[in-house]
Amino acid sequence: MRPVLLDSRSLAAQLKDKLKKRIEELHKKKGITPELAVIRVGDNLASKSYVASKCRQCQEIGIRSTEHYLSSTASADTLLESIQQLNLTNTVHGILLQLPLPQHLDTFKLIQSIDPIKDVDGLHPHNLGALSLGQPTIIPCTPKGCLTLLKNHRENIKGLHVVIVGRSILVGRPLAMLLLKEDCSVTVVHSKSQNIREITKTADILIAAVGQPRFIQKDWVKPGVIVLDVGINHILGQNGEVEIVGDVDFENVSQIVSAITPVPGGIGPMTVVSLLENTVEAAIKQTSVE
Ligand SMILES: NC(=O)c1ccc[n+]([C@@H]2O[C@H](COP(=O)([O-])OP(=O)(O)OC[C@H]3O[C@@H](n4cnc5c(N)ncnc54)[C@H](OP(=O)(O)O)[C@@H]3O)[C@@H](O)[C@H]2O)c1
Repeated sequence: MRPVLLDSRSLAAQLKDKLKKRIEELHKKKGITPELAVIRVGDNLASKSYVASKCRQCQEIGIRSTEHYLSSTASADTLLESIQQLNLTNTVHGILLQLPLPQHLDTFKLIQSIDPIKDVDGLHPHNLGALSLGQPTIIPCTPKGCLTLLKNHRENIKGLHVVIVGRSILVGRPLAMLLLKEDCSVTVVHSKSQNIREITKTADILIAAVGQPRFIQKDWVKPGVIVLDVGINHILGQNGEVEIVGDVDFENVSQIVSAITPVPGGIGPMTVVSLLENTVEAAIKQTSVE
């Protein structure tokens, strides 16, 4: 049986289309244009390209976006000042601090300085705390994108066993909270876990967020499992060119699964759509309209 390829590009386009109409409506009725401020620190090439793509996609659907660039030697105080200024700017509804930051900066201290209502990445302790309590909140973009894609494929996921490989603040942990809220049974494994292969084999849904190319092998998964591959790894391909691969050995694993995301074209587009949705929702909340 051929697996369903969970290519998210058409779903992402549909969701963006819906958002665009919602933004037009918001503008027409209330004169509001959602605005996202993205802060980029340093010259990480991947970050530069992610930020450019996020800003371009904002513009495509009518979200105003601004990029605030600081050099890699910028001090924590300078960054705190920029965040504070954006917190106080009424026309800015969402603030995104592009990660990773240069090593001398304390990521969590800086995230905590973002006004939680403008924290469209959902990483402020206030928002992560609400998520852990199962309360409505701003949901981190990649976990939210995973859930949207998953439920678009299979609406009822109640009671299924989800194994998440990776426990980062950005992906693994909030995803576990989100899926618990969906009544899944959730197991999280990480670099110190023992017998990972035996655990991943018990998954009905396996989600890999490890950051290691082709980490999940065919004999680690149960036939018929649904696989979401969050990983984005740049490797040197056989022809000497840089290739992007996921955390799952797609070629072999896809032979026995019921559904699997490709890399690229799986979780990536859903992450950006979630950011756009979070920005529009933040704008609506801050202006209490619609
Ligand atoms: N598609 C998207 O939109 C998107 C968004 C975000 C991230 N990503 C990608 O997703 C991947 C993960 O990102 P991240 O931010 O979560 O990475 P991260 O912060 O580096 O976390 C990686 C997690 O994997 C675990 N891990 C590492 N080696 C392992 C091993 N040998 N066995 C089991 N677990 C292991 C780590 O365990 P410990 O906690 O024990 O160290 C950690 O919890 C990366 O490739 C990243 O580029 C993609």
